[in-house]
Amino acid sequence: MLKRVLIPALTMGLVMGFADDSATKAKKISLAGGKKVYQTFCIACHGEKGKGDGAAGMAMTPKPRNFTDTAFINKEPKMRMYSVITDGGKKNGLSPMMAAWGKTIKPDQINDVLAYVLTFGEDSTKAIAHVMNKEKEKAEAKK
Ligand code: HEC
Repeated sequence: MLKRVLIPALTMGLVMGFADDSATKAKKISLAGGKKVYQTFCIACHGEKGKGDGAAGMAMTPKPRNFTDTAFINKEPKMRMYSVITDGGKKNGLSPMMAAWGKTIKPDQINDVLAYVLTFGEDSTKAIAHVMNKEKEKAEAKK
């Protein structure tokens, strides 16, 4: 009985382990990590489902960005979203209520949380790809 449960579990772990390994080497994006950051720092304003309807966000004008608004999010450059999270709304011509998190949250974790907020409007594979492509854009711009 134990064997029957253990073997599939082990095999699954191995398969997923391999998949994870090659994937994380390329991107190092953790949606689980991003979710943790989001729940710690962002949820109060942007809301549990990313609709911009958190308890603290409701009364704000403009409201915190609604991440499920795919018409907006699809058009918005992901590098800009990254900048808003890092340097804050004010520096980017948005509401000063959106704080600069660059001193609190490490760049890797900002990638994680950006990928996580994108999952409110698209599937996780796309969300991670968008954050990865953003990184490429950044590297290209530096050349
Ligand atoms: C105190 C409330 C508050 C908190 C906390 C907060 N935000 Fe925001 N956020 C806002 C507001 C307000 C805006 C700006 C909306 C505007 O001006 O259109 C915004 C805008 C944004 C945008 C929009 C970028 C764009 O291109 O339009 C992103 C991305 C974002 N927040 C991510 C985050 C993340 C990630 C966290 C947590 C690390 C966070 N926010 C925490 C209030 C907040």
